[in-house]
Parts: sequence; structure tokens; C-alpha cells
Amino acid sequence: MLKIENLDVFYGQAQVAFKISLHIKRGHFVGLFGRNGSGKSSVFRSIMGLKPPRVEGRILFNDTDITAKPSFTISKMGIGWVPEDRKIFPNITIKRNLQLGEKSNKALKSDRLFSYADAYRFFPKLYEMRDKLGSQMSGGEQQMLTIARTMMGNPSLLLLDEPTEGLAPNIARDVMKMILEIRKNFNTTTIVVEQFSETLLKHMDYCYVMEMGEIIFTGEPRLLLDDEGLQRRLLGVG
Ligand SMILES: Nc1ncnc2c1ncn2[C@@H]1O[C@H](COP(=O)(O)OP(=O)(O)OP(=O)(O)O)[C@@H](O)[C@H]1O
Ligand SMILES: [Mg+2]
Repeated sequence: MLKIENLDVFYGQAQVAFKISLHIKRGHFVGLFGRNGSGKSSVFRSIMGLKPPRVEGRILFNDTDITAKPSFTISKMGIGWVPEDRKIFPNITIKRNLQLGEKSNKALKSDRLFSYADAYRFFPKLYEMRDKLGSQMSGGEQQMLTIARTMMGNPSLLLLDEPTEGLAPNIARDVMKMILEIRKNFNTTTIVVEQFSETLLKHMDYCYVMEMGEIIFTGEPRLLLDDEGLQRRLLGVG
């Protein structure tokens, strides 16, 4: 579904990613892990056609070359992106926030469309708070709203950039639970960027690890899960 071939990523003269190749199969749940500054978000920005950065190499989505296409085109083609700074609209209600997600991608076809009912089912708090303003939500609630809003556009590929970053452990657990529930019910092809997440890794089909702009590990989650030494070496955990 998504094929990245020899992607080089630059901010001005500075190259931050080198010959990145990813191959994401339809329906798969994939992790892209790596320490601070290893280039994970830059890869997502490159997929979304955002400037900066500037890219060289090729990004194919369903066999169409989308390299450096305008990001509204890429979003219309069915790639949903939840950035690391979780942008909700603070001055409108939560319900309206969800509605805006729905509008941006109305034309997309899918087997089973993500609805308000789904958003409220996966995250009951959204229902309780539906008439409150976005700004009244906590960080974790905003994260769940951003994910739900992106799902309202029924993306065929979902990119989640550090969805649990900066959240208290119990809130991070809720966010992960929501991601896994959505996976279970919709099977949306999903790439999650995190520094590392054992909980999510256990449910993944495949994973990559980046370091200093390069892919240093590619393989089955089991290989990474079973090897604590490797986890420590790659990510400073384990
Ligand atoms: N707008 C920018 N201009 C110049 N350099 C940038 C810019 N954004 C990121 N970089 C640099 O690119 C490199 C990769 O950053 P990136 O944000 O992609 O890493 P990351 O893996 O997402 O890190 P984090 O875990 O902190 O989110 C870093 O060295 C960073 O300083
Ligand atoms: Mg990042």
C-alpha cells in the first residue's frame, strides 16, 4: 500500500534522513521507533508532502507516485496524519471538531465508515464532553479527539506521530487501548511512531527502528520483543 524507496530528507542543506525504505502492506499495523531526533517525524512529514523538508527518492501510495505532491492532495487520497503536536480546534465544540474531520474526506469509500457512534464508543468521554470546547480537554483527551477526528475522514492509511508522548501512564494506556480498538474494528493500515512501545509492538505486524536518520532495524516485532539487549541497544530501554 505504501512503498518508500531510498528517501533522503533535507532541511535546507542539512540531511536528516538517508536512504529510507519502508514497505507497508495493506491492513498492517507497523511501528517506526527511534530516539529523539532520529528522523521519524521527518519521514511522516515527507509522506504528507509538507514543506519543509525537501525530499529525494520515491514515495508510492497504492502504486501512485505521491512524492512531494501537495499535502491536501495526499490527504484526499486517503492518508490521515495525526501530528505530534495534536492540533485540535480549541474554540469550537468537540462535536464540531469531529464534524470537521468528516468533511475533509467525504468522497472516500470504505467497507465500514467510521461514525460519530464509533468515536463515542471508542472514547465515551468524547460523548460526555461533546458540547464542551476543545480547549476544555486535557492533553490525553485532545490526543483521543485528534485520532477520532482523523478517523472521521476514513483514511485508508493512518499515521500516528507519538500518540502517547507527554501523557501520564494511565492516560497513555487509554490512548493505546483506543488505537488497538480502532485497529480491531476497522483494520485501517496504521503506522505508529513512538520512541518505543512494548504494548503496541505486541500487536504489530512489522517494525522499523531509526537512528540518526537511518533505518537500523527492520523485521518482525517478535525479534525486537524477545531481544532485550537489542531493545536496550537500539532505544535505551528494556
Ligand atoms: N524544521 C526543521 N528545520 C531544521 N531541522 C529540523 C527541522 N525539523 C527537524 N529538524 C531536524 O531533523 C532531525 C530529525 O528530526 P525529527 O523531528 O524528524 O526527529 P524525530 O525522530 O521525530 O524526533 P522526536 O522523537 O524528538 O520527535 C533532527 O536533527 C532535527 O533537529
Ligand atoms: Mg518527532
